[in-house]
This record gives sequence, C-alpha cells and structure tokens, in this order.
Amino acid sequence: MMGLWTHLLLLPLLLPGCLSDPSDELCLTHLSESLEDPAKLLQNWTKSTFANPCSGFTSYLQGATCNNGRIYKLSLTNLFLRGSLSPFLSNCTNLQTLDLSSNFLTGPIPSDLQYLVNLAVLNLSSNHLTGQIPPQLTLCAYLNVIDLHDNLLSGLIPQQLGLLVRLSAFDVSNNRLSGPIPSSLANRSVNLPRFNASSFQGNKDLYGYPLPPFKNKGLSVMAIVGIGLGSGFASLVLSFTGVCIWLKVTERKIALEEGKISQLMPDY
Ligand SMILES: *[C@@H]1O[C@H](CO)[C@@H](O)[C@H](O)[C@H]1NC(C)=O
Ligand SMILES: *[C@@H]1O[C@H](CO)[C@@H](O)[C@H](O)[C@H]1NC(C)=O
Ligand SMILES: *[C@@H]1O[C@H](CO)[C@@H](O)[C@H](O)[C@H]1NC(C)=O
Ligand SMILES: *[C@@H]1O[C@H](CO)[C@@H](O)[C@H](O)[C@H]1NC(C)=O
Ligand SMILES: *[C@@H]1O[C@H](CO)[C@@H](O)[C@H](O)[C@H]1NC(C)=O
Repeated sequence: MMGLWTHLLLLPLLLPGCLSDPSDELCLTHLSESLEDPAKLLQNWTKSTFANPCSGFTSYLQGATCNNGRIYKLSLTNLFLRGSLSPFLSNCTNLQTLDLSSNFLTGPIPSDLQYLVNLAVLNLSSNHLTGQIPPQLTLCAYLNVIDLHDNLLSGLIPQQLGLLVRLSAFDVSNNRLSGPIPSSLANRSVNLPRFNASSFQGNKDLYGYPLPPFKNKGLSVMAIVGIGLGSGFASLVLSFTGVCIWLKVTERKIALEEGKISQLMPDY
C-alpha cells in the first residue's frame, strides 16, 4: 500500500514532459474555437494535442514553441486565419511571444492580454482588428515589441504605453487612430528609444509631433467660407424679397394714385 502511494507521488517527477498544463490547454482550446482556419493550414490543432502540446522542449502543435512543458511562443503568421482573438489567450501564462500577424483576424484586442506578464513580443500587424488599443497592455512590463500596424484600430493611443521602459519597437501605422500622439512615446526621456513618424503615419486623425500639428485651420477656413456663403445667400434672398414687396407696394400705390388721378381728371 505504502509502495503504491510513493510511486503515485513520484510519477509527476519522473514524467515532467508528459504532464499537460491545464491553463495552456484552456488557452489553446478557446483559441482554436475563436479562430477560423478556412485554408486548413493549422496542422495538429486538435483536442488531443491541446491536452499535450509540449513534451519538454518539443512541440506537437504547429506554431507553438515549448519550454519545459509550457508554451512560450505562439507564432501563426500568414495562414489566412479568420475569426477573433480569444480572451483566454491570457491562460497561456508563460507566453513570451504572440505573433498572429498577416492574417484576416477581426474583433478587438482582448484587454485580458494584460495577464500575460511574461509577454515580450506582441505582433498582431496586418489583420482587420477593430476597437481600441487596450491601455492595460502597460501591465505587461516586459513588452519590447508592440506591432499593430495595418489594422482598423480606432480611438486614442494610450499614453500609459510610454511607461513600458523595455519598449524598443512600436508601430501603429495605417489604422484609424485619432487624437494627439502621446509625448510619452514620441518624445521620451533621452535614455529611451523614441518612435518617429513611421510608427504613426497612415492614421487620418492622429496629430502632433512627430506628425504635423492639429489640422484645424483648413477645416475652420472651410467653415467660415461656408457660413459666409450661406449668410450671404440668405441676406440676398431676404433683400430680394424685400425689394419685391417694396415694388409690389409701390406698384399698388402708383396704381391707386393713377386711379385717383383718372377719377379726378374730367372726361373730355
Ligand atoms: C501531432 O500530435 C501528436 C500527439 O497529439 C504527435 O504524436 C505528433 O507527432 C504530432 N505531429 C506533429 C507533426 O507534430
Ligand atoms: C483564463 O482566462 C480567462 C479570461 O481571461 C479568465 O477569466 C480565467 O480566470 C482564466 N483561467 C485560468 C485558470 O487562469
Ligand atoms: C511583425 O510581423 C510582420 C509580418 O509577419 C513583420 O514584417 C514585422 O517585422 C514584425 N514586427 C516586428 C517589430 O518584428
Ligand atoms: C520634447 O521634450 C522636451 C522636454 O522634455 C521639450 O523641451 C521639447 O520641446 C519636446 N519636443 C517636442 C517636439 O515636443
Ligand atoms: C524611424 O525609425 C525606424 C526604426 O524604428 C528606422 O528604421 C527609420 O529609419 C526611422 N526613420 C527616420 C526618418 O528616422
């Protein structure tokens, strides 16, 4: 009896690579449900593999890289993937690299990614992602790459992202972002890398250094011209109506006067 218990207790120690990690499994199961793979390019993305994606440093799952039985890198680029990003990605707690670039992914970037405390590389570029950039990403303190270029992201760039001291690559070009560019990213303190115009360009309503300042003048000039033309036209119509009424009244007066005159005039 004692011997059996000892063996059962030793089992996890003897077979570390064969033990699945329940949170990696949860992460992969949900991710595979939220992703669509119309081109059928994801090899071995099946329930049985999710239960055991890694054996030590060996990965059985396409796109996954393993370290000590846990997934630490997930790289699925250019696979024609559709669908959305599952918030349960946050269950892959050992993840250091998440690269799903160059697909057709839609929907928001889940704020739950904040729980990936080891995340160093986030590359979701060239997709159709919408919504805002979650400011919670600031909690991933090890982030050194945030590449979100060529998506449909909107709203402001969270200025908190400038607090990520390890950030060395930041690209949000070609989205639908608006508002001022945070100086925490464009004009960082001398010892941190600054991000130039190429990181921000291609966002119609984004302004401020290193892009041109707020494009207000062009718009207000148009507004002034519009108001001017509008009120000019209105006063023209008004004065024309006035003149018409005046003419009508005068005409009637003249007619009346003429009538009077003709009445006063004796008939010959
Ligand atoms: C697919 O997964 C199974 C275990 O689920 C594994 O035995 C097999 O080697 C994997 N195939 C590849 C190509 O990794
Ligand atoms: C998995 O992720 C979801 C979404 O972030 C969270 O609600 C849940 O608590 C996580 N589960 C575990 C076991 O970490
Ligand atoms: C992100 O992925 C794209 C496409 O796969 C690649 O061209 C780009 O260099 C990556 N970004 C970074 C900062 O490595
Ligand atoms: C950058 O910041 C410094 C002070 O930290 C300031 O003097 C300078 O005007 C800023 N440059 C721009 C272009 O905003
Ligand atoms: C902008 O920064 C990138 C690296 O982030 C660099 O490759 C590029 O040459 C810079 N462009 C200018 C105009 O400085």
